[in-house]
Amino acid sequence: MLKNKVAVITGGTRGIGYAIAETFIKNNAKVAIFGSKQETVINALIKLKNTYPESNILGLAPNLSNYSEVEFSINEVYKKFGKIDILVNNAGISAREPIEQYNPDDFKKIMDLNVTAVFNGCKAVVPIFKENNGGCIINTSSMVSFYGQESGVGYPTSKFAVNGLTKSLSRELGKFNIRVNAVAPGVTRTDMVASLPQEMVERVSSTIPMGRMGEPQEVANAFLFLASDLASYISGTVLSVDGAKVQ
Ligand SMILES: NC(=O)c1ccc[n+]([C@@H]2O[C@H](COP(=O)([O-])OP(=O)(O)OC[C@H]3O[C@@H](n4cnc5c(N)ncnc54)[C@H](O)[C@@H]3O)[C@@H](O)[C@H]2O)c1
Repeated sequence: MLKNKVAVITGGTRGIGYAIAETFIKNNAKVAIFGSKQETVINALIKLKNTYPESNILGLAPNLSNYSEVEFSINEVYKKFGKIDILVNNAGISAREPIEQYNPDDFKKIMDLNVTAVFNGCKAVVPIFKENNGGCIINTSSMVSFYGQESGVGYPTSKFAVNGLTKSLSRELGKFNIRVNAVAPGVTRTDMVASLPQEMVERVSSTIPMGRMGEPQEVANAFLFLASDLASYISGTVLSVDGAKVQ
């Protein structure tokens, strides 16, 4: 489904981002993953290369909240692969502290990665997409971008911003054949969820009509669809992948 396409995936070293990288590789894309540390990027590249020896992959570890570093890394991918067709802004962190205990520095940290880094990736890739006569951006949002969450206000705030950025950019860039969408996963079995108290995961999972949490592969499938030509007229949407969760 992604033959001859080049994709950049931030936070591609584990969890949902790794599943997206695998899925894109299986569908014949060339893939660059951006992670937070050189070491985790190398480990992910080794794992991918062992599983998919024919794959054409690259890994970099820019500070995603620093625009110059993101621009440099995007240009490195462009130099190596000759083009970029897809940008997946997936890296993200969460926090659960109630407002009185919420450290203002942690609020800024969440905004820096979950929002500013998304802006940085989009800004760096748009000139390349324009030269290419089109492209596709997919941002990882969250179910909390629709109705917030009961504690840890920074995370849902950041994901509301991701939806706003997605919808606004889709309108700004539509005329250049650049599609901008987001995927809003529900509770998905990754390290992010493993770090939450078991009692909380069970309570949230019990409210999912489909009766279970999602698998990273199930979320990655939505990214594949939106990245592919099957979604050629879909832009500005936030696609829920959450087992029908409503709140
Ligand atoms: N797991 C869930 O239930 C769930 C639900 C909704 C949305 N999401 C979103 O999915 C995305 C991926 O989350 P996940 O569940 O796979 O989490 P994860 O913790 O397993 O993976 C997070 C990824 O982000 C990267 N990352 C973290 N900090 C970084 C930094 N400072 N710089 C660069 N990369 C950094 C990590 O290297 C990793 O690849 C996030 O945006 C998250 O908000 C997850």
